[in-house]
Amino acid sequence: MAARPQRKGRLVNIDDLRVRLMNEGLDADNIARDPFELFGEWLEVANSAGIPNAHSMALATTTPDGQPTVRNVLMQGVVDGGFTFYTNRTSEKGRALADCPKAEGLFSWLPLERQVRVRGAVVELDDASGDAYFAGRPRAGQLAAVASDQSTEVPDRDYLVKRFNVLEAANEGREVERPPSWGGYKIQVDRVEFWQGDQHRLHDRIVFSRTGSRWSTARLAP
Ligand SMILES: Cc1cc2nc3c(=O)[nH]c(=O)nc-3n(C[C@H](O)[C@H](O)[C@H](O)COP(=O)(O)O)c2cc1C
Repeated sequence: MAARPQRKGRLVNIDDLRVRLMNEGLDADNIARDPFELFGEWLEVANSAGIPNAHSMALATTTPDGQPTVRNVLMQGVVDGGFTFYTNRTSEKGRALADCPKAEGLFSWLPLERQVRVRGAVVELDDASGDAYFAGRPRAGQLAAVASDQSTEVPDRDYLVKRFNVLEAANEGREVERPPSWGGYKIQVDRVEFWQGDQHRLHDRIVFSRTGSRWSTARLAP
């Protein structure tokens, strides 16, 4: 499943949609048996409602001393039971994942009173997928990725701008190579929770849990 919006130009009235979704609610008996199918439906609704960066998720990881840290990343696809994203493996999140390869991603579609949490073990994607993703980035994004030792302290903004300009000149007329530290990860999910707000604050929470290849659903108190 591609994460990119596919229904540009079909924007709906978001207030009407929010009220309709809140009234419809979320019932474990009436939803897709597969969390990926349901996630795809919800992402499409969020995209068609015009929510900016609907495929961004807050990614929570844990440092070696047990400190939770969280930041947004763009979810790039749902592949073989997992949610993928790309980043610098030497960044703070990359170091956290090397030590504790588990994460939770949170999609917040607040104008629709919806959120989805995806949780599981994290695996690194191979170099071929990193190359393909990097090649598809705009050139400025490629150069910025090379110029930025993500999460390290820099003296000032000028330092980054100069690094970018030097790299731009050095790479003129040729492809920018993916830095070896830049690559992909996949959250191999075993728990996916869908939250739908309700008019009367009795919100719906349906959680999918995986045992082996089988998914079961349960309702949680809000
Ligand atoms: C909407 C949004 C999307 C982002 N997407 C990414 C991404 O896909 N990959 C990435 O490395 N950083 C992304 N960032 C920047 C991160 O939030 C973060 O600042 C950076 O990855 C460094 O995080 P760290 O120091 O915790 O490793 C995004 C930020 C925003 C606001």
